[in-house]
Amino acid sequence: MDSPKAGEPGWWPEAEPFRIKVVETIRRTTRPEREKLIEEVGFNVFGLRSEAVYIDLLTDSGTSAMSDAQWAGLMVGDEAYAGSRSFYRLQEAVAGVMGFPLVIPTHQGRAAENVLFTTLVRPGDVVPNNMHFDTTRAHVEHRGGTALDLVTEDAYDPVADLPFKGNIDLDKLEKTLARRQEPTAGTAPAAGADLSIPFVLITVTCNSAGGQPVSMANLRAASEICRRHEVPLYLDAARFAENAFFIKLREPGYGNRAVREIAREMFSYVDGCTMSGKKDGLVNIGGFIALRDPEVYQRATVWAVLFEGFPTYGGLAGRDMEAMARGLEEVVDEDYLAYRVGHVAYLGRSLKEAGVPIIEPVGGHAVYLDALRFLPNLPREQYPAQALTVELYLEGGVRGVEIGTVLAGRDPATGENRFPRLEMVRLAIPRRVYTRQHLDVVAGTCRRVLERRGQLRGLAFTHEPPVLRHFTARFERL
Ligand code: F0G
Repeated sequence: MDSPKAGEPGWWPEAEPFRIKVVETIRRTTRPEREKLIEEVGFNVFGLRSEAVYIDLLTDSGTSAMSDAQWAGLMVGDEAYAGSRSFYRLQEAVAGVMGFPLVIPTHQGRAAENVLFTTLVRPGDVVPNNMHFDTTRAHVEHRGGTALDLVTEDAYDPVADLPFKGNIDLDKLEKTLARRQEPTAGTAPAAGADLSIPFVLITVTCNSAGGQPVSMANLRAASEICRRHEVPLYLDAARFAENAFFIKLREPGYGNRAVREIAREMFSYVDGCTMSGKKDGLVNIGGFIALRDPEVYQRATVWAVLFEGFPTYGGLAGRDMEAMARGLEEVVDEDYLAYRVGHVAYLGRSLKEAGVPIIEPVGGHAVYLDALRFLPNLPREQYPAQALTVELYLEGGVRGVEIGTVLAGRDPATGENRFPRLEMVRLAIPRRVYTRQHLDVVAGTCRRVLERRGQLRGLAFTHEPPVLRHFTARFERL
């Protein structure tokens, strides 16, 4: 029997599969307080102190509640420069859950990208992905390369109810790899070959496409294409367990397979991964590179030492590695994942019932508001998703984040705004942190803003940093 699908009876667990053992007090602010605070930070929620936020959905990264076992691990972790016991625990967990023998710890995901991309990317290279997250894009560009998004067209349709909208377009991948300058063994170099492609990356789940999963069939086929063209394939594995759970729920033939096995199969198709432990590692800090190829490992450790630290600690304390090792084992627990994916889906359902336009189906770690349908009258030059983000804070003390034109930045060649196909506000749900009542407050906040959407005004930059402008930009109300 296949597992029940999202929304079907028996799918959503009756309640959280954990009890609350430690709590952190949060405080409500008043609307006048919030008016003053948001103006002080230039209408950019990144500038707010977290104490001024009631429900913080800025990110699901580094915001997880750790388990009792992870907290206990902090005490067990050993602090050592070389040969830390906790490093070996991490290595065992990575081998057990992902199947990779070689691990280089780093302080977070983008540090893993920095080390691996410094090792592999040269100026002029092209790195295809289903859709780059902003740090992988920035690291490729920082190395003088071009970051190419090859996600299927489905990802850009905010309401297409399809199971795997994170899939890479296999036809485009094939055509891109056929343009490699380096001839594949046994073949003549293709006429007009003009690209240098050091590796292909696939992001699971695809954050920039709304946390949409990638199917096993797509990973398998992409892996076959890459192997045929002799190009290594890596995963950006930040949310691999959520992706594996969607495969179990949605992909024929996987309903009765254990998520742990599904995850192992996903990783079996790739040469390695970069990992932000701050998501599916269930920790507040930490990441790593995992690899099979000892030669790449050797080259990467040189940069790891320079940027992060000796390869048996990589910028982390032993206790951080211990907590991440335990987190990796917990995150593939199916009761946890059913709760996790169901919790996010619950917010999506509540919003939909209230008539709030969202990206569908709901992804694994966040619900995305569709700002173009939410605020159809605000021109994109006035940053509607940023304006909506500000309004959610003012209305309910809820902090989401703009995933739209502000984030996309300007084209380096023309200096013009890049208008992405979707203009969204992401409401990312921290793992094991908020209750369903919190989510009800979030849905109510969105509904009230929707009711008065006609009054919302757009924004203009008063300060615009040249790179990653969304973090520190300031705006004024038009
Ligand atoms: N890859 C993906 C898919 C991510 O979502 C992130 C971070 C990273 C890499 C970088 O990892 O933060 O540990 O350096 N995403 C966070 C977010 C910041 O809010 O989505 P990091």
